Amino acid sequence: MTTTLERPRGANIGRAVDRVDGPLKVTGAAQYAADAPVRQPLYAVLVQSTISRGRLRSIDERDARAVDGVVEVLTHRNAPRLKETGFNLRIPTLFPEPGLQPLQADEVHYWGQHVAAVVAASLEAAQRGAARLHIVYDEQGADVVLDARTRTHAEPVDSFFGSPLGSERGDVDAVLAAKPPLVDATYTTPDETHHAMEPSATVASWSGNALTVYDSTQWAKGLQSTLAHFFELDPADVHVISPFIGGGFGQKAWVWPHIVIAAMAAKAVGKSVKLVVDRSQFFTSNGYRAQTEQRVRLAAAADGTLTALVHDVLTKTGRVGEWQESAGAETGMMYAVPNLRVTHHAVKLDIATPTAMRAPGKTPGSFAIESALDELAHELRLDPLALRVRNHAAVDPTNGLPFSSKHLLECYRVGAERFGWDRRSGTPRSLRDGRELVGYGMAGACFPQNAGSAEVRARVEAGGRVAIECSMHDLGTGMYTIVAQVAADTLGIPLERVTVRLGDSTFPRASVTGGSMSTATIMPPLVDACEQLVRAAGGDLAAAAPGLEAIGSARNTGDDETHSFYCFGAQFCEVHYDEDLARVRVTRFTGVYDCGRILNPRTARSQMIGSVVMGLGMALMEETPRDPRSGAIAGNNFADYRVPVNADIPPLDVVFLDHPDLVFSPLGVRGAGEVGITGVAAAVANALFNASGRRVRDLPILAERLL
Ligand code: MOS
Repeated sequence: MTTTLERPRGANIGRAVDRVDGPLKVTGAAQYAADAPVRQPLYAVLVQSTISRGRLRSIDERDARAVDGVVEVLTHRNAPRLKETGFNLRIPTLFPEPGLQPLQADEVHYWGQHVAAVVAASLEAAQRGAARLHIVYDEQGADVVLDARTRTHAEPVDSFFGSPLGSERGDVDAVLAAKPPLVDATYTTPDETHHAMEPSATVASWSGNALTVYDSTQWAKGLQSTLAHFFELDPADVHVISPFIGGGFGQKAWVWPHIVIAAMAAKAVGKSVKLVVDRSQFFTSNGYRAQTEQRVRLAAAADGTLTALVHDVLTKTGRVGEWQESAGAETGMMYAVPNLRVTHHAVKLDIATPTAMRAPGKTPGSFAIESALDELAHELRLDPLALRVRNHAAVDPTNGLPFSSKHLLECYRVGAERFGWDRRSGTPRSLRDGRELVGYGMAGACFPQNAGSAEVRARVEAGGRVAIECSMHDLGTGMYTIVAQVAADTLGIPLERVTVRLGDSTFPRASVTGGSMSTATIMPPLVDACEQLVRAAGGDLAAAAPGLEAIGSARNTGDDETHSFYCFGAQFCEVHYDEDLARVRVTRFTGVYDCGRILNPRTARSQMIGSVVMGLGMALMEETPRDPRSGAIAGNNFADYRVPVNADIPPLDVVFLDHPDLVFSPLGVRGAGEVGITGVAAAVANALFNASGRRVRDLPILAERLL
């Protein structure tokens, strides 16, 4: 049925409500996947390949099986058979490695591929068994790094997930033939690993032909249908439970092989099996952000008006998956440059499959573009902020469509004011604090907005409570809380009388919780369900009998034929630089974001703080190096893979403009998950240049690169 989707009125929407699931989290009562209430599960430990290409010649299991407590050793020889997937799988799934069925064949496609799982009565016994598995490989030559040789195998990539990657308008060649570009620079970003606080984990149990899986997933329904496919089950017989997730960042949107292996192991041993991906195994088990090399050329008039922009992206991907790091996909929309060309190339290597990591594509892409603009501003002796204002795109330059709601100029203005941008000197090395150099840098931020589809159930329960159910997830973002807020206001009852249940495949369907889409996806059907329930109760929920329920299925109203949908932002950074130690410290950060209407400023602010912290990690610390010969991940631990800690993070000043985007969605909401990381690394590099006169084009900005 249709609904009016009247704007709900009430005291909760827009208020900084504490997380409704906060008490469960701080008391430890929130059950994450590895906390599944399953009695005496067996433990599975993964064994990963130590070569990058070849075959398993032999696996000697005797020592492993001799370990007290070991129950089973699962390899390609004895693992349950899976139904073929192939690259043209038509089920709704995010299976990231269609070219590799887990534990089905003796081929090794990358270092760190799961080649066995040891199942035991205790975690320790399983670990001991895994260490005693003797594997002999027939190793073949492998290409594992982007270098002068493999670069020659780069192939053009025109589209990804149905969206074009390359783009062209005007005539860049004519502009560049007339006059060389003012900026011609190459920027590089390394492999980065997500490292959600909660490791990926699965607890699988079979009962006859029914499979129950507790899993840390961003998409219960996608995992349900994928497991049903692999094991040839009725999807209704696959129950996925995932009420709490300790961070996903894109990695947990996908059905990674270890999830399937946990289900295979449980099937093989006839008992529940718990499998937690070890931190050291994370680097090849759940995807990662793939390295990029991006050449940017900019031509401009003396006043800073861009006349040409060329963005050539080179990245890498694995052979058994399909992921592309789409670093140029959004380049064409941010600035009003008449002549533009974006190209993408990728080299296929014998490496694990990369995947979506917070603002995929846009995060490395914005490092290159926003750094290049800073270089252009310096070249032309212009203020970097004024340069961006001069090239502001009033309409989407890629298609001429109006933006549904764009307040980027206000982001610049408010940010500059709060940050004190007018105190910046355009001359590098002109500001000092004691023996340290001080610099200011800024960058623009943006991220596209889409919505998926979902249904929501609202049901009257005992005690005058109303339950809201949807299979969508709360990744730690605050989804439980904003759903409760909007439900309470729409139903006209206090927040305390709303129970929100999420992350269970038996609840109404929802598309993946990712892509900054979830708020816009869930709100229309939520309001729809609540309005229907109020009507069904004759306008008086207090008198309604328990069991009365309604399913909402209204969809987001944004029409991409008539408008372009984006979140925007402006990032401002101050660094202190100690030249003697080559030490860069970020000392202040201001981010101003245009993300539509903010349902809860507290949870939204946390999203932005997390995004900025992740961006600071990208700028200064994070990198996943690989041994160029073996393909082994070097430093696959938290000592070598450094992420920011509290001591690395300055006070973060995060502001939302809070302008409802009623063209995009009936409640005026957009998504806040990803825009906040875009531009952060460039703002740091730009601030470092302003401080020191050193331009760093290769991330992360490590001391050894500055000395
Ligand atoms: Mo995200 S990288 O779409 O969870």
